[in-house]
Amino acid sequence: MSLLETFKQPNQLPDHIMSLSEEAMAKRVRAIKQQLGARLFIPGHHYQKDEVIQFADATGDSLQLAQISAAAKEAEYIVFCGVHFMAETADTLTSANQTVILPDMRAGCSMADMANIRQLEQAWERLQAVYGDTIIPITYVNSTAAIKAFCGRHGGATVTSSNAEKMLRWAFAQKERVLFLPDQHLGRNTAADMGIPLEQMVVWNPIAGRFEGGGAEQLEACKMILWKGHCSVHEKFTVDNIRDWREKDPNIQILVHPECSHEVVSMSDISGSTQKIIKTIDEAPDGSHWAIGTEMNLVNRLKQDYPTKQIDSLNPHMCPCLTMNRIDLPHLLWSLEQIASGTPANIITVPDEIKKDAKLAIERMFEHV
Ligand code: 13P
Ligand code: SF4
Repeated sequence: MSLLETFKQPNQLPDHIMSLSEEAMAKRVRAIKQQLGARLFIPGHHYQKDEVIQFADATGDSLQLAQISAAAKEAEYIVFCGVHFMAETADTLTSANQTVILPDMRAGCSMADMANIRQLEQAWERLQAVYGDTIIPITYVNSTAAIKAFCGRHGGATVTSSNAEKMLRWAFAQKERVLFLPDQHLGRNTAADMGIPLEQMVVWNPIAGRFEGGGAEQLEACKMILWKGHCSVHEKFTVDNIRDWREKDPNIQILVHPECSHEVVSMSDISGSTQKIIKTIDEAPDGSHWAIGTEMNLVNRLKQDYPTKQIDSLNPHMCPCLTMNRIDLPHLLWSLEQIASGTPANIITVPDEIKKDAKLAIERMFEHV
């Protein structure tokens, strides 16, 4: 379901939940968790709200949550507090007798919506015509299961923000060129870190079905084909934000997620996955000052958890990731009540024919991290 379609979905919550106080909802969640015991497992992504994350059995970045879900063999129900592609990954990696649930189906990812399988098949046909068998498809996990399956079928793999460089090195050991999708920024930032010049990267526009810019010579020399996709949250961090902070405090350190643009990542002091952002702050000395370029729930949690360090959002007018925030306490409670009453809802099911190849792509990543 695309992001646009998800917003058209009605709110599923019954009146008896909406009329409860936050405290009463939390009490009910605790009671159902206790009742279901080891039959229930709740993974929570770092961007989730505090009202949800307090009930997570494990928290992590995308890579950790995929690994944790794969290892949660005992759980009959995995209630995934994150976005749709993460729940699909969990379903791909768990066995047939396990059920993965997304508390609100409207929790999509605008970046994952920027690549659909029909566009990828068209692009691949064109790229094969230009480059022959010299290219390998690599997808960021922020993509549909169908895209992951395509990569698995064509010898490629998935990557996350915490292993993109390792996986790109692996990819270049297989083929001369990489088609990287759907996030052009993670692709460009990672390739640049590996020393690949920007002139050896071209952008593929999936809507127009053609390369953007790049003359014949650049296409010939090209090593990275970057799908024209991005994160609508991380694109809001700008070079001007960095300049403004450095003007206010020359000692400030800029810490950003690699979904930010190349200009922003190049100007920052450190970039990395949500887990790396947390680790960096955890290890930072008291009194140090940080401007962080990532989702607001995580930045606000770091502010609360590390009061002896000065933490600000890189963009003071930042919006949260609206889809991540679809998962809230009422939806979590509702999904748990549905399980407890024997009528689980919002089940995420990746069709078997897609699952097999998607799993191949994810397992190739697991082998190399
Ligand atoms: P991480 O893998 O760093 O948690 O990132 C996931 C994501 O969607 C960031 O926007
Ligand atoms: Fe998707 Fe961006 Fe939200 Fe991450 S922050 S889930 S990439 S829209």
